[in-house]
Amino acid sequence: MLSIDRSSQNSGHRYLPQIDNEDAPPSPNQQLLPLTAKVNSNDNLEIGGCEIKLLVERYDSPLYILDEKTLRTACRQYRDGFAKYYGGESQVIYASKAWSCLAVCSIVNSEGLGFDVVSGGELYTTLQAGVESENIYFHGNNKSASELEFAVETGCQIIIDNWLELKTLTPIASEKSNTPVKILLRLTPGIECHTHEYIRTGHLDSKFGFDPNQIEEVFAFVSQQPSLECIGLHAHIGSQIFERQPHQDLADVLVQWLKKAQGYGLPMTILNVGGGLGICYTESDDPPSITEWVKAVSEAVETACDRHQLPLPKLIAEPGRSLIGSACVTAYTVGSSKEVPEIRQYITVDGGMSDNPRPITYQSVYRTVIANKMSAPLTETVTVAGKHCESGDVVIKDATLPKTEPGDILVVMATGAYNYSMASNYNRIGRPAAVLVNKGEANLIIERETYQNLLERDRLPERLINPTSH
Ligand code: LLP
Repeated sequence: MLSIDRSSQNSGHRYLPQIDNEDAPPSPNQQLLPLTAKVNSNDNLEIGGCEIKLLVERYDSPLYILDEKTLRTACRQYRDGFAKYYGGESQVIYASKAWSCLAVCSIVNSEGLGFDVVSGGELYTTLQAGVESENIYFHGNNKSASELEFAVETGCQIIIDNWLELKTLTPIASEKSNTPVKILLRLTPGIECHTHEYIRTGHLDSKFGFDPNQIEEVFAFVSQQPSLECIGLHAHIGSQIFERQPHQDLADVLVQWLKKAQGYGLPMTILNVGGGLGICYTESDDPPSITEWVKAVSEAVETACDRHQLPLPKLIAEPGRSLIGSACVTAYTVGSSKEVPEIRQYITVDGGMSDNPRPITYQSVYRTVIANKMSAPLTETVTVAGKHCESGDVVIKDATLPKTEPGDILVVMATGAYNYSMASNYNRIGRPAAVLVNKGEANLIIERETYQNLLERDRLPERLINPTSH
């Protein structure tokens, strides 16, 4: 359950994490605010020992504020959980699509995790952050030939999604690599789970992975390719999932396929069960803790291996959201407001769908506090709108807040996953800066995009500058 301070129902304190034991922090994915969130003597919210209002004064808004301690804690809970509950070898790899940038990759790498990348750009970012290619797994349902060449040249593992990719990779592997290229096969497991339909991937009607009825043909083909070494199987059922059962069912399905592969002379040793553990966006969300999830998955794989008489494979999990989602907040400055009598009170912030496209894409719900009025009574119900030219650009509908005025700092919680990574320049609004906070220190990890940045890749053909000369 979410351990929030329910004694302070009337103020922004209600979302603060309760930390009873510094050595055994709660699971970050069960918190709304990062683990270091506190209210200081100015009645201001602090994260990582830094006052949010001062961060906005220094770095402007909107601002992504990433708490290093929360991110590291989530990495350790995954890593230590598998070491404790799984009898075989294990590896946690960060699904870097959740937030890929040098600083995040470098922190996660320093915690000993590997990486899931889904594009040449994500692969390049992890390599530049110093990640060893043996710890990188390259996903994607339509990798280009040049991405495959890049992957082979770097020596990372490739998770094959479909026939075209398999057939494109085979000659590249024999031409560009002296040793067989290590691959895993992604399968569609046919498992349903409860989450938004856009982020479900394991059901049969999915664009990802080989259909189960193709598997034997794929095994037969792969077993004949000397340029490929098939080391394992992969499946991912979806994202923001609170149930444990689908992940447990997946373990059993994958182990059965691992057994089947043996019949084709493919002694695979890796089982990658994907990611998908959900986080709290509101106080009614109730995901299992990281440790509970790890335990359930580990036990399910062990039970399935026992049943099918297989030695324990190396178990890989690839969480994204539950590693980084709760480690970050977005700070906005409150601007204009509008009252629609008897219908709605709007307040507008200086960002919106370009820095957080999740509400407009998935109808995602968020919670918010006013960082400079943490103890003020909650007297208003307001809709927090973004500044983009689109009526649907609403950050939070019907938020319960204290009375606000222009200049207040509104903080939206749990924005670490799929916010920066899905941000756009809609309306030619520059993407926000991001700061990393830890023990009172704040470091800029992503610069705010300037007007010049927005024009950097624009090109004006000569004939448009000087029409008469043509
Ligand atoms: N592995 C694979 C193959 C994936 O496709 C994903 C997420 C993950 C791992 C990590 O899943 P996670 O642990 O983060 O749930 N943009 C959406 C989420 C899309 C998820 C895509 N795949 C959102 O904002 O909710």
